[in-house]
Amino acid sequence: MEEQKKKVILSGIQPTGVFTLGNYLGAVRNWAQMQEDFHSAYMIADLHALTVRQEPADFRKRILSCYALLLACGVDPDKSVVFIQSHVPAHAQLGWVLACNTQFGELSRMTQFKDKAAQHADNINAGLFTYPALMAADILLYQADLVPVGVDQKQHLELTRDVASRFNGIYGNTFTLPEPYIAKEAKIMSLADPLKKMSKSDPNPNGCITILDEPGTIVRKFKRAVTDSETEVCYREGKDGINNLMTIYAAVTGLSMDQITADFAGRGYGDFKAAVGEVVAEHLRPVRERYADLMNNKDYLTECYRKGAEQAARIAHRTLEKVYKKVGLLPA
Ligand code: TYM
Repeated sequence: MEEQKKKVILSGIQPTGVFTLGNYLGAVRNWAQMQEDFHSAYMIADLHALTVRQEPADFRKRILSCYALLLACGVDPDKSVVFIQSHVPAHAQLGWVLACNTQFGELSRMTQFKDKAAQHADNINAGLFTYPALMAADILLYQADLVPVGVDQKQHLELTRDVASRFNGIYGNTFTLPEPYIAKEAKIMSLADPLKKMSKSDPNPNGCITILDEPGTIVRKFKRAVTDSETEVCYREGKDGINNLMTIYAAVTGLSMDQITADFAGRGYGDFKAAVGEVVAEHLRPVRERYADLMNNKDYLTECYRKGAEQAARIAHRTLEKVYKKVGLLPA
């Protein structure tokens, strides 16, 4: 009975590089925590990453290493369905049907499309534009109740709900309407420019911490973090750099903002930045170690992603069949 009440969650991450501290605190760390209480499915969104040109040999390696990173961050293939998106063809299949039920105007409003089109002006391809329809398919195939993401994905989630409820309205109840589940650390900012989100594509390498950075590198990057001209460590509007560092420190230590302010009273920014660097480096140490072990055991990784694909395909296929039938496709 208890089992039946468990909600379903699904989330994904693109294999565009080593996960950043933003990916980790805003999303992946929560996935590991949530798998205890939910039916959870997590995927490496490799098809999404094709919207930007990839170097094939490097891309293939990165997909596997990102899969290993998910496990290193605590996502457990015995508790969750952990798979690679392209291994489950139903994603592309439902993505097409949903693209046919998503309006040009809706897709044109997506800020991620506008940002990425500006970043890759030489490759504004159709996939970049229809990306949210594929993301909706990822979620709706599993009838997810909750989708744990950072705040930058919220607009895609709203579109997913709109598309799902329109489809349900036309064809009868088919999809569960998913809710975004946004962590407290919904937006970790760049250390070099605290008005911009921390991202792998930060032009300044000091702005972004990856979860495999060496401890010395992490400490050095935090020491260089941009702050302000005051001296008091406190969370206040306008202190974007310090607010970001406090958010990170609180996420890793579990301390409240008030406790942090009290602990660093009269100590200045230098001490605080060094302390943030040290706790983050220490926190990520086991992730780095687990990752190294996993990459030495490729057979285990292969076994896990194959099992994940089978489990995912079974669930996804049920929804796809239902959809094909509802829209009137002739069964094969
Ligand atoms: P992606 O690969 O850009 O990011 C993965 C997750 O990390 C979160 N995130 C952040 N959170 C806090 N601070 C930051 N600086 C930061 N940077 C990234 C993102 O919000 C995301 O949750 N379209 C998705 C992948 C995807 C997906 C899905 C997600 C494909 N299908 C279905 C959920 C459900 C993306 O590009 O995330």
